[in-house]
Amino acid sequence: MNNVSVLFVCLGNICRSPLAEGVFRHIAEQQGLSGRVTTDSAGTGGWHTGEAPDRRSIAVAARYGVDLSKLKARQINKRDFQTFDLILGMDASNVTNIRRISPEGARDRVHLFSKLTLGETWDVPDPYYGDASDFERVYHMISEGCMSLADRLKSSDMSASGNTSSVR
Ligand code: 4NP
Repeated sequence: MNNVSVLFVCLGNICRSPLAEGVFRHIAEQQGLSGRVTTDSAGTGGWHTGEAPDRRSIAVAARYGVDLSKLKARQINKRDFQTFDLILGMDASNVTNIRRISPEGARDRVHLFSKLTLGETWDVPDPYYGDASDFERVYHMISEGCMSLADRLKSSDMSASGNTSSVR
C-alpha cells in the first residue's frame, strides 16, 4: 500500500466527520499505517469554523479510546480537491454539496462514505438534534466503515498520485 489521504466531510464538521477522522486515524495507528495515511475532516458549511467537535461526539469517541478534543472545525475549500485522494461525504446530501463545488477533474475523488468503504448505500444520519444513543449508533456505523476502508487500503495497490481506482 502506498500513501493515501482521506478527507471526511459532513455538514457542520462537529458531529460525524470529526468522529470519522479520529476513528480512522486511530485504526491506522493501531494497524501500523500512520506513516502512510493522512486524514482530516471538514464541513460543507462554515458555521462552526474554529469550534471543537460536539461534546457528544467527543464523549462517544472517548469511550472507545479515541481523542477528538484537539480537533477544530473548518469548511471544505478548493485546495482540498488537490490535496486529498479520497473525499468522503457522510450522507448523500453531503456528496451532492461537495460535487457542486468540486473542480471537474476532481469529481471522481468524491464518494459516499458507505459506498467507498463497504460497497453499500446508506447515510450516516445527522445526530445533531438527537441524543446519546444516536451518537452511539453513528459511532458504530463510522467504525465499521473505517475498519473496512483500512482493510481495503491494505489489500489494494494505491498510488500516492491519487490513483485510487481499486477502491472506487
Ligand atoms: P454534522 O452535524 O454535519 O455531523 O457536524 C451537524 C452539526 C451542526 C449542524 C447541523 C449538523 N447545524 O445545523 O448547526
